[in-house]
Amino acid sequence: MKLTPYSENCGMVVQDVQLAKLSDDEIVELRAHFAEHGVLFFYDQDLPPAEHLRFAKRFGQLVVNRFFQPVENFPEIAQVRKEKSQTTNIGGAWHTDHSYDQEPAMGSILVARELPAAGGDTRFANMYKAWESLPDDLKVQLEGLQAEHSSSHVYGKEGYYAATDLGESLNLESEVGEAVHPVVIRHPDSGKKALYVNPGLTARILGMSRQESHELLTRVYTLVDETDVYCDFEWQPGAVAMWDNRSTWHNANNDYQGDFRLLHRVTLAGAPLEAA
Ligand code: SIN
Repeated sequence: MKLTPYSENCGMVVQDVQLAKLSDDEIVELRAHFAEHGVLFFYDQDLPPAEHLRFAKRFGQLVVNRFFQPVENFPEIAQVRKEKSQTTNIGGAWHTDHSYDQEPAMGSILVARELPAAGGDTRFANMYKAWESLPDDLKVQLEGLQAEHSSSHVYGKEGYYAATDLGESLNLESEVGEAVHPVVIRHPDSGKKALYVNPGLTARILGMSRQESHELLTRVYTLVDETDVYCDFEWQPGAVAMWDNRSTWHNANNDYQGDFRLLHRVTLAGAPLEAA
């Protein structure tokens, strides 16, 4: 397989592979690239739902997203779906999947099914680089801290989506997720440090007032925003994105109003996170 950077600080395009036909050695190689680079992009893949699942299961256990509608006959595959008539999209803010779970998802594998005529890119951010880019005084302040993550303000019965036109197509009655994780983690496979707070699902930093926590998180997010750790993945038919939720953020662009977009996501189960 051949890897080419998608942009300077974010994402790798993996060529010369068919994900439905990888050898065991290629899976080992892919796992190492996944840990090292955080987000991998593939083009021209033939990955119908059964093959999507088979490929994902070669990386470990799956976790089913309880808020999204499943694909018919494939309960382990979530639909990331926006109808022509809907104005709100799924995942349209910076986040990392399932950080509200005690054992946050290791990764996600997203396959293009039906794309809008234009727009609908997914933005990614590299949280290894984000951590490295922070000033030393802030790094010292953040190391050792813990943050609470929650699904309730987004997927709860009174959360963000409930008040939108996407609310009816999500399972907002599902159990709320709440978990505490280190603000800076040591990635279990690469051994590198990564920033593990995200604007969408991190509720607060523990041991501080709400105001102090808000100010600290705002400072961190503003600095990350000013740093070149981003890439916009432009979807094509047959494209697949595979990202590590411990070392990336993502954000689905909602710039295709009046058009339909459908992708299928399989989520890979993870383990409790260790502080750096
Ligand atoms: C997601 O947050 O998993 C969805 C990303 C996308 O639709 O591009």
